[in-house]
Amino acid sequence: MNIQWYPGHMTKTRRMIAEQIKNVDAVCEILDARIPVSSRNPDVDELTAGKPRLVVLNRVDQADKASTDRWAAYFRAKGYAVLESDAKSGQGTARFAVAVRELLSEKIRAYEAKGQNRVIRVMILGIPNVGKSTFINRIAGRKTAKTEDRPGVTRSKQWVPIDRNLELLDTPGILWPKFEDQSVGLNLAFTGAVKDDILDTETLGCHLMAYLGTHYSDELAAAYKLSGIPERAAEENDVAWGYRLLEVAGKKRGFLISGGEVDTERMAKILLDEFRGGKLGRFTLEMPEEQRRSDCGPLDL
Ligand code: G4P
Repeated sequence: MNIQWYPGHMTKTRRMIAEQIKNVDAVCEILDARIPVSSRNPDVDELTAGKPRLVVLNRVDQADKASTDRWAAYFRAKGYAVLESDAKSGQGTARFAVAVRELLSEKIRAYEAKGQNRVIRVMILGIPNVGKSTFINRIAGRKTAKTEDRPGVTRSKQWVPIDRNLELLDTPGILWPKFEDQSVGLNLAFTGAVKDDILDTETLGCHLMAYLGTHYSDELAAAYKLSGIPERAAEENDVAWGYRLLEVAGKKRGFLISGGEVDTERMAKILLDEFRGGKLGRFTLEMPEEQRRSDCGPLDL
């Protein structure tokens, strides 16, 4: 689903989380492993303060493995439990219950010591397109009703039993990413979480080319059968250099228009389609080392 902007609906979602937080033992936030910062909701920390946290890095099949390892270490260092998953194939999802019980082991031992056999409840959060529904269906072992995410349609919260002692609270409503930040908007557009109309396809393609050319030049050259990636000139910004990369790749593919010019628009569309479809390889668009100091700024983790 593409993210759309419904401010009133967002307020309702925030209110629901604030009301329900006292009814759960832990919070599980699902992130897109390719964009672990951009796929976060900026309010989650504040809304869930004090609750034990599990971070699911989903879509690991599409992310670069070495970067996922670094992100997992990064979140663990912050005291979160981390689960890596590919909800589409089901890889990693079976560890969910174990990870929750590890996270809450002290609490569970305390219940047991008192002879109580309590159900553990976990609130599950995620912005659209991280794979939340797919993940929940996997761990619940069946298809659950998708929580309603259209405005004007109110649905009550949904408890999803996982096993005899574990229940999920699936939040209805939409959690938004941090739209104001331009790099967040780009990352969400690259991964297809927001519609392409935030920028024109060609400009989006330029930005993606520039990122891949900088961080994954070998993989990019291999994907488009280029003998090398043209160097970036000192004065070139992302769009200018990315445009040149689109031209080189488009030429190689034979996307020419009249006068021998390269159809960069077509190449940009192909690039985005192939990136989203995982045809170019596995890429991570944000690195933990690039994040700001963890105790400041809007991207505070
Ligand atoms: P949401 O609730 O967070 O909005 O996301 P949802 O589960 O609806 O998943 C969105 C798309 O992402 C679905 O593809 C889903 O199959 C895919 N997806 C979810 N998790 C993963 C993952 O770990 N890896 C990969 N590669 N894909 C994942 P779709 O194209 O909408 O449908 P379909 O291809 O499954 O038919």
